[in-house]
Amino acid sequence: MKYFLDSAKLDEIKIAYEQYGFDGVTTNPKHIMNSGKSFKQAITDIAEYVADKPDFPVSVEINPHLETAGEMEKMAKEISSISSNFVIKIPTNKQGVIAARRLEQQGVRTNMTLVFSPAQSIMPGKLHAKYVSPFVGWKEDYGDDGLDYVKDIVDIYHKYDFDTEIIVAAIRTASQLQQAAIDGADIVTCALSVYETSFTNPYTDLGLKTFQDAWDNTKQD
Ligand code: E4P
Repeated sequence: MKYFLDSAKLDEIKIAYEQYGFDGVTTNPKHIMNSGKSFKQAITDIAEYVADKPDFPVSVEINPHLETAGEMEKMAKEISSISSNFVIKIPTNKQGVIAARRLEQQGVRTNMTLVFSPAQSIMPGKLHAKYVSPFVGWKEDYGDDGLDYVKDIVDIYHKYDFDTEIIVAAIRTASQLQQAAIDGADIVTCALSVYETSFTNPYTDLGLKTFQDAWDNTKQD
């Protein structure tokens, strides 16, 4: 299972790669805004950092205002030419499907994003998108079940042998992360803080304290 960092902040990307050995990065317009840089500067800085890391993909989203497949295709190609690590996030809608299909045929890798149902996940698999991104947290924010549909997408992809990798996105808790793993997601993407919480447990701290007390009450020579 692969861990992607969901952020456009270079300091966090460095921690993810150098400290934890994570497998890639996903960004979106919100993350770019939160990096405090311009779109161009943020993606140029990331491209520079990953230039010697060929197995570290970075998803970058096109301008969300684009409406036609032609416009999406054009911008995707421009972004993709900046770094061979870049995978282009395309919205999963009618024009996005058309654009992503053309891009994949031309060797531009795509991440079909904003997927909210198993039905919506099928075209990304059929057109051989590199990734498909169901957004668990957003569904749960609105009271929908966020994880049953991940299981259904995993089942469909296995049944039809789709080679598209499933990124379970918008994960906000360790519990969602663990459920995505149980359900067979290829990849999860979330904030550094969610991963760091998932590495820890209060019982581990309690256990450590118990062992520290035992250590302190034992002769060490
Ligand atoms: C995934 O690719 C998206 O960038 C992401 O998970 C969005 O979720 P958020 O609302 O938690 O930032």
